[in-house]
Amino acid sequence: MSVLFTPIRLRELEMRNRIWVSPMCEYSCEQQDGLANEWHLVHLGSRAVGGAGLVMTEAAAVTPEGRISPWDLGIWSDAHADALLPSTRFIEAQGAAPAIQLAHAGRKASTNRPWAGGKPVGAPEGGWEPWGPSALPYAPGYPEPHAYSTAEVRGVIDAFAAAAARSARAGFKAVEIHAAHGYLIHQFLSPFSNQRTDEFGGDYDGRTRLAIEVARAVRESFPREFPVLVRISASEYVEGGWDLDDSVELACRLKGVGVDLIDCSSGGNLPHQQLRVYPGYQVPFARSIKERAGITTGAVGLITAAEQAEAIVAGGEADVVLMGRELLRDPYWPLHAARELRAEVEWPKQYLRAKLS
Ligand SMILES: Cc1cc2nc3c(=O)[nH]c(=O)nc-3n(C[C@H](O)[C@H](O)[C@H](O)COP(=O)(O)O)c2cc1C
Repeated sequence: MSVLFTPIRLRELEMRNRIWVSPMCEYSCEQQDGLANEWHLVHLGSRAVGGAGLVMTEAAAVTPEGRISPWDLGIWSDAHADALLPSTRFIEAQGAAPAIQLAHAGRKASTNRPWAGGKPVGAPEGGWEPWGPSALPYAPGYPEPHAYSTAEVRGVIDAFAAAAARSARAGFKAVEIHAAHGYLIHQFLSPFSNQRTDEFGGDYDGRTRLAIEVARAVRESFPREFPVLVRISASEYVEGGWDLDDSVELACRLKGVGVDLIDCSSGGNLPHQQLRVYPGYQVPFARSIKERAGITTGAVGLITAAEQAEAIVAGGEADVVLMGRELLRDPYWPLHAARELRAEVEWPKQYLRAKLS
């Protein structure tokens, strides 16, 4: 009996299984507009057809300057929400839960598409000056960000809250706050990127204040019956930096403001991070946070095989797995995994003649 294919319920939302599509930037909006288009509908829609339990959009920027690239999805206006409606309707019609990742890139904003080199882009090429907690660039070659004033940080919190309300109107049944990978909220968490002296910097309470306040504001703006998730980098892999103990404490505090699941990723804030990557390398973070903070967790990172995903969930290491690149290679991975694990799942009726029994 497969556990991977058992439903999971968060608040009033039931997902048909524990295979979730990890958020992945597609860099496929028209340059600057941030509006979902046919690419997003087909890309997200295929993964819903392919049997995933939850399908999450890429990082959707809550403000224009919070985009990683000029081609990123946005959720900073009602027009952005409207453009996402066909995707949420389609995902839901296939039996998957539509989710959106709410994001702000901070000092790592305004970069090129990966296939064009991924380097920072300046104003002449359609870029903009990035903002961050402190005037500290991410790495050599990156611009020095403007440091947000205290009032402007409050504006960022409001932007996340407004984006969450818009996401509900766009038909999303879950939102994920992106607090990982060295983007704005992670930049505030880390003592290396946050050297502020106001209430959003300094000690642990100060550096975690933005994450907590964003979570609280998003929770208040998103319908009570639907879950709020937070993706964190459980470690930044640098001595003296953000680590697992910090993450466990943060998870406890996020749980206290009504967050339902911690999506456990790692790294991305410091270019000199000492990261060793191997299959399932972030699963131990999901396990520790689940055990020590007593909160539902998601595991992500080099999870590619059915037996591997099954073992993570059945072994209680995480409650769900999020999968990225393997689901790019094969949008029908969940249907194939069900066959391998001998789980009975519904196929799209249109494809029934191709289902091997
Ligand atoms: C093309 C691509 C785009 C990504 N964009 C995002 C993103 O928007 N937000 C995010 O949190 N992670 C992003 N990631 C990271 C993935 O969600 C995932 O955590 C990572 O790829 C590890 O999982 P995997 O080994 O299953 O691919 C991206 C990864 C890829 C490959």
